[in-house]
Amino acid sequence: MAQRAIKQRTAPAPGYGGVAKSMHWLIVALLIAQYAIAWTMPDINPRTPPNTLIDLHFSIGVTILFLAVVRLLWRWRYPVPPVSDNVPAWQDRAARATHALLYLLLFLLPILGWIDAGFRALAINFYEIVTIPPIVAASRTLAGQTGDIHTLVSYILLGVIGLHVLATLYHHVWLRDRVFYRMLPGKE
Ligand code: HEM
Ligand code: HEM
Repeated sequence: MAQRAIKQRTAPAPGYGGVAKSMHWLIVALLIAQYAIAWTMPDINPRTPPNTLIDLHFSIGVTILFLAVVRLLWRWRYPVPPVSDNVPAWQDRAARATHALLYLLLFLLPILGWIDAGFRALAINFYEIVTIPPIVAASRTLAGQTGDIHTLVSYILLGVIGLHVLATLYHHVWLRDRVFYRMLPGKE
């Protein structure tokens, strides 16, 4: 009985389930909002007054981090099988590496932002509901440096997303296989 329960938990599902798909597209939507806000919010420096857009940037960023953690735990609980046995090994490896990198960046980027906000002694008012504590003590020397790395990593994420979307297009338009459909609602 216990053995059957373990088997059921680890057996790969036929494809991405509704929860995995919802989280994938919710994160895509939040990232679009997040970049739009990041590029319109005022430049952050020691004289920047508290601003709604900056607060929103922090709140959405923390939401993305939370969803990325839930999503990875979900994936671990419900593994997804490879798309087909016909995909060349190098393509399978490249897809896995890109997905792993996307997950990694989805953790790294918000954490760097959280660290930078801490160095700058900026409060993180999570949707004005609760204040999220800093993870580092304020530092005049380190503030800005982590901000620069955060900004750089945000561009690296954009580049990797670009590759990921191009790969999806290649499968859909050129190979005409079911890779894109796997991530669409109502398809297997
Ligand atoms: C995946 C989530 C995130 C993305 C895509 C993102 C993206 C960006 C981008 C593109 C900028 C540069 C804006 C500019 O051009 O000036 C920026 C700046 C910044 N972000 Fe984020 N961010 C994310 C999460 C967070 C989080 C969670 C926090 C804090 C809790 C945060 C705090 C900051 C701060 C403090 C700056 C200013 C950096 C500086 O100039 O020192 N970000 N973010
Ligand atoms: C229009 C934009 C996007 C399209 C068309 C797209 C499409 C897809 C497709 C078709 C898959 C399934 C691939 C497979 O079955 O092997 C997938 C998986 C994935 N996508 Fe996207 N994606 C987009 C944007 C993003 C963004 C912005 C992120 C995150 C930064 C992301 C992260 C991932 C991850 C991590 C996986 C692997 C999921 C897993 O196996 O756990 N995608 N995407």
